[in-house]
Amino acid sequence: MDTIQLLPWHMDYALAISALANDPEVAANLRDVFPHPYALSDAQDFISACQQAGPDSLFLAILVEGQPAGGISLCRGQDVYRESAELGYWLGRPYWGKGIMTEAVGRICALGFARLPIRRIFAEPFARNLGSRRVLEKNGFQLEGIMRQGAVKQGEALDYCMYALLRP
Ligand SMILES: CC(C)(COP(=O)(O)OP(=O)(O)OC[C@H]1O[C@@H](n2cnc3c(N)ncnc32)[C@H](O)[C@@H]1OP(=O)(O)O)[C@@H](O)C(=O)NCCC(=O)NCCS
Repeated sequence: MDTIQLLPWHMDYALAISALANDPEVAANLRDVFPHPYALSDAQDFISACQQAGPDSLFLAILVEGQPAGGISLCRGQDVYRESAELGYWLGRPYWGKGIMTEAVGRICALGFARLPIRRIFAEPFARNLGSRRVLEKNGFQLEGIMRQGAVKQGEALDYCMYALLRP
């Protein structure tokens, strides 16, 4: 497998990340907060926000053989959800299908349980996103339910899944 690193975001990654993120096939399975088209300034704004994020979240760049390849995050909830964290991730298309996200998800979950006062990590892939669901299942996440027509993307109502992993 290629050498994978999860590192804090650095502004030097903005150009490469914006090029990989500006891809309709990446945006199609993410929330609308992930812009499409995706400009250099979007990457710069995102990296700047990650650098200012507080201790309740982990925002990390995925580097493959030293090159920025995508992003992964854990965000702790608030109020009654404060002991849960939401997992999100994306990888540029040239890097798909090499086991990279399976490895990255395993690593950030271990980091999250070590660093954050949480008992649960969850993710909400669209039901059609079989690759993402497989990544979660390979990391021990359990499918807890399918939220029928729970999301709308590009004008289409979509089912999404609730997957979760409890603190080992
Ligand atoms: C979904 C995504 C994260 C998968 O990352 P990846 O590094 O390519 O996944 P891996 O190589 O670790 O593959 C994990 C498993 O999923 C399977 N898989 C990957 N893509 C698949 C696809 N499109 N359809 C079906 N299975 C797929 C792989 O075969 C592998 O299973 P196996 O080991 O049993 O063969 C990546 O395609 C991506 O970033 N897509 C765009 C953004 C996105 O969807 N983010 C997630 C939002 S919830």
